[in-house]
Amino acid sequence: MAAGPALSGTIVGTDHDFSASGFSLGQICVVCHTPHNSDTSVTTAPLWNHTVTQTNFTMYSSPTLDAAQDAQPTGTSKLCLSCHDGATAIDSFGGNTGTFVMSSATAAVGKNGDLTNDHPISITYDAALATTDPGLHDPTAKSVIIGENGDKTRSGTVADLMLPSNKVQCSSCHDVHNNFVAPGTDGEPFLKVSKAKSKICLTCHNK
Ligand code: HEC
Ligand code: HEC
Ligand code: HEC
Ligand code: HEC
Repeated sequence: MAAGPALSGTIVGTDHDFSASGFSLGQICVVCHTPHNSDTSVTTAPLWNHTVTQTNFTMYSSPTLDAAQDAQPTGTSKLCLSCHDGATAIDSFGGNTGTFVMSSATAAVGKNGDLTNDHPISITYDAALATTDPGLHDPTAKSVIIGENGDKTRSGTVADLMLPSNKVQCSSCHDVHNNFVAPGTDGEPFLKVSKAKSKICLTCHNK
């Protein structure tokens, strides 16, 4: 059987399925997770097995940014940047040092530590920020449906489903396990909400 498009709702067959690469021992989860002896250096990291980025990042800044921002990426963003920094090898996990570094400039969003040209991450987004900046919805009141049309569709507030520890992180907009927006649709890279008509942006921004 020819390989079809990745099934909606699963990591299988996506860019995050390294089971066809020799280094993965034919497994999927092991590159990022381990059931035992995980790396706990990043707070809230889920049983982490991948080498954590050592890059020093320059964060986004602008005169109109109201949100408080961490000095360096935290939480899930730090985990994503442990491959998407274009410096830490994809096959560095389980204590082994690998050699395959992400080469595509568009995929390596944190290359050379530069996050100045990316949507801000590791910023606090709570009800208070929405009061300061009425151009944002109150995340504790605004509802969202993520993974629409997939087999793991969930609905709840923006705060519950998109903001780990009340912060915008890479995982606010992306689901690392899931290309589940509109089955078979291209150009929706692991997005929790579709970018068609900028639906994902309008989930948080009151524009
Ligand atoms: C490319 C790296 C990567 C791979 C491969 C991966 N994960 Fe994850 N996983 C993450 C990251 C990063 C997070 C934290 C972000 C989040 O919670 O969305 C996470 C979070 C989780 C969580 C906790 C949050 C939740 O969604 O329930 C579970 C459980 C999990 N992964 C299970 C798995 C399993 C099982 C596999 C293999 C089938 C797997 N992961 C493969 C990166 C990965
Ligand atoms: C173990 C390494 C690793 C980790 C950890 C990882 N990724 Fe990736 N990711 C990759 C690779 C490799 C690709 C393919 C890059 C390419 O096309 O050159 C990729 C591709 C992507 C893409 C593009 C998918 C597409 O269809 O174009 C997105 C979006 C993405 N990752 C987001 C994330 C987010 C968000 C996290 C954390 C929650 C994360 N990744 C964690 C290795 C990783
Ligand atoms: C506010 C929402 C949001 C946040 C936060 C976010 N992204 Fe994205 N990302 C998107 C959207 C939307 C796209 C699709 C852009 C397009 O196709 O025009 C995208 C695209 C990507 C791509 C594919 C780029 C390409 O053209 O191949 C990668 C890789 C990626 N994001 C990784 C990350 C990582 C890593 C983080 C955290 C450092 C992150 N994203 C944070 C919304 C976000
Ligand atoms: C999960 C919620 C969320 C999503 C989804 C989201 N944003 Fe944001 N965005 C924020 C927050 C919070 C800020 C910080 C606003 C502030 O402090 O002024 C922000 C900041 C920005 C800024 C910088 C504002 C400044 O003053 O410098 C721009 C521009 C922006 N977002 C555009 C977008 C676009 C375009 C999309 C869709 C691709 C998007 N955002 C998706 C929450 C989100």
